[in-house]
Amino acid sequence: MESLNPLVPVAIPFEQIRVINMCGIVGYVGPRVAQDFLLEGLRRLEYRGYDSAGTATINSERQLNITKSVGRIARLAQEVAASPCDSGIGIGHTRWATHGAATVDNAHPHLGGAETLAIAHNGVIENFAELRTSLKAKGYEFHSETDTEVVAHLIADCLSQISDSSKVSPTPEIAVDAIKKAIGQLRGTFGLAIIFKQWPDSIFAARLGSPLVIGVGDGEHFLASDAQPLIGFTERIVYLADNQVAILTADSLEVTHRDAGLVSHHVRVLDVESNQVEMGDYDHYMLKEIFEQPESLRNTMRGRLNEDDATAVFGGLNLTPQDLLKVKRVVFTACGTSWHSSLVGEYLLEDIAQIPVEVEYASELRYRNPPMDEGTLLFAITQSGETADTLGALREMKRKGHMTMAICNVVGSSIAQEADGGIYLHAGPEIGVASTKAYTSQCMALVMLSLYLGRLRHLSYNRGRKMISRIQEIPDKVELALKQNDHIAAIAKKYQDCNNFLYLGRHYNFPTALEGALKLKEISYIHAEGYPAAEMKHGPIALVDEQTPSVFVMPQGFIYEKVMSNLEEIKARGGPVIAIAAEGDERIAEVADDVIYIPQTVEYLQPIVSAIPLQLLSYHIALLRGCDVDKPRNLAKSVTVE
Ligand code: G6P
Repeated sequence: MESLNPLVPVAIPFEQIRVINMCGIVGYVGPRVAQDFLLEGLRRLEYRGYDSAGTATINSERQLNITKSVGRIARLAQEVAASPCDSGIGIGHTRWATHGAATVDNAHPHLGGAETLAIAHNGVIENFAELRTSLKAKGYEFHSETDTEVVAHLIADCLSQISDSSKVSPTPEIAVDAIKKAIGQLRGTFGLAIIFKQWPDSIFAARLGSPLVIGVGDGEHFLASDAQPLIGFTERIVYLADNQVAILTADSLEVTHRDAGLVSHHVRVLDVESNQVEMGDYDHYMLKEIFEQPESLRNTMRGRLNEDDATAVFGGLNLTPQDLLKVKRVVFTACGTSWHSSLVGEYLLEDIAQIPVEVEYASELRYRNPPMDEGTLLFAITQSGETADTLGALREMKRKGHMTMAICNVVGSSIAQEADGGIYLHAGPEIGVASTKAYTSQCMALVMLSLYLGRLRHLSYNRGRKMISRIQEIPDKVELALKQNDHIAAIAKKYQDCNNFLYLGRHYNFPTALEGALKLKEISYIHAEGYPAAEMKHGPIALVDEQTPSVFVMPQGFIYEKVMSNLEEIKARGGPVIAIAAEGDERIAEVADDVIYIPQTVEYLQPIVSAIPLQLLSYHIALLRGCDVDKPRNLAKSVTVE
């Protein structure tokens, strides 16, 4: 977890981590070739999002056989094929880096002690730094930046203490005691799968806050971080509870409690229907990710709002307040949806921090050679951290000697590594090609950045405090906006056959209009244009007819009356209007054909709340038109070519 990469925070407190639905664990013990199940199970966990993977088995010489790779499971499968192991015991893992880059060294399983055990871990160990220091002092060597390796050595250490004091020959129960002793010292969350070369017939599992499911077969047992890998292998499952430690052999399953002895376990029948890929109750990743936004926003905010100083705190900027005071101009560069959040950032930084901002398409910036003075600070905004144009623009600015920052979701991605510093979104993996939760988290990171830069300049303590309390309300407001889902689905039905849409908004709502139009285009293939509402009369108004709906983003604000006039202009020409308006706005209901009400907030936070109904509207229209919502035609999640 400790990293040379300046973007990576050294430690994240437990309460900052609730994104457990990433990384995956599998395990197998029985007569099959373990690696076959491990690879199949890992493939089925791909939906969680991951950037590296690995397996550990125990070979016939009782040695641990570890295979790891960065990238797809297909690549891991090639590595496994190159060094096959036909043993019937093993564990596997898919990792989505949250701390420490996606490298082979950081991929799981990790070895502990003198290569006596291998471990795969989901979750985050909060107190890993202290533990690592004390284990290093005892002579344990570390080969990764992860918190997981600390757990591996800690268990090995506990095992050697117990074995030394035990007169009887070591049994697997001793390993359970060592695991219990070790997890008693951990703060944080974990789901653990462990194998010891000393006990080649047993897999050990332990959990606190990170799910583990055991599959009970005939003469075999399976382990996984959710039920998905088990489908088709067994229908009998046992959910491990917090603080339980289990030993799985081919023929037996024993579950014990950390603070007690054996506990009974309840074997359930797996309901295959409800476990069709862990999108939970959602039909698509995009919908799941839209609904995750209250939580992903909380994760972006956590630990970053300091009420005492009425400001925001960022661990990874690597710039002192003195450095930041010298910044005379900020340039945001990005592509696609991230370019829209950059526009929101422009409004925010100018409004709240009074810093001049320019927003540049990365594909343009990299070849434009614009004059940039010394006080220019560049921010590359990117969900994936891999977009080729954004990386190219960042490199060009670096070459010119400018400080470069990244606002990025994927830890250890190319842009995160090459930037001088920045802010991670912690929004969790985004799988749907159309960006949703990463967008709102980008907007949230930019709100907090403008608070921080504003407080370094003219923004008063009082205004800072007020901003913090308004920011803290946002996840709940997003939750309320999501309640409009059914109403939005009904509106989608009404307009599903239209082939042109206009999206209009002004001031902070203008980038939202652009993003709403892009979402519709991307996933429903309907032509949609976003415009500043007032600019509409300089051209796009010629498009208005009965078949061309205009989506007006117009919550309350100082510009409301002006936007209302623009709306009347559309109505006067027979264009249908769908309004995104603030709860309690009765006037709008009289003029618009359809209204989607959302909670009102301050203008600078409105882009986050207003994005929700637009995401849902696109989703439902695309669905009704039979489009592949998660994998729209011609688009890629991460565009790594120019
Ligand atoms: C692709 C995706 C878009 C995304 C853009 C920028 O075009 O389809 O959804 O907004 O890349 O991606 P980034 O990862 O840099 O934010």
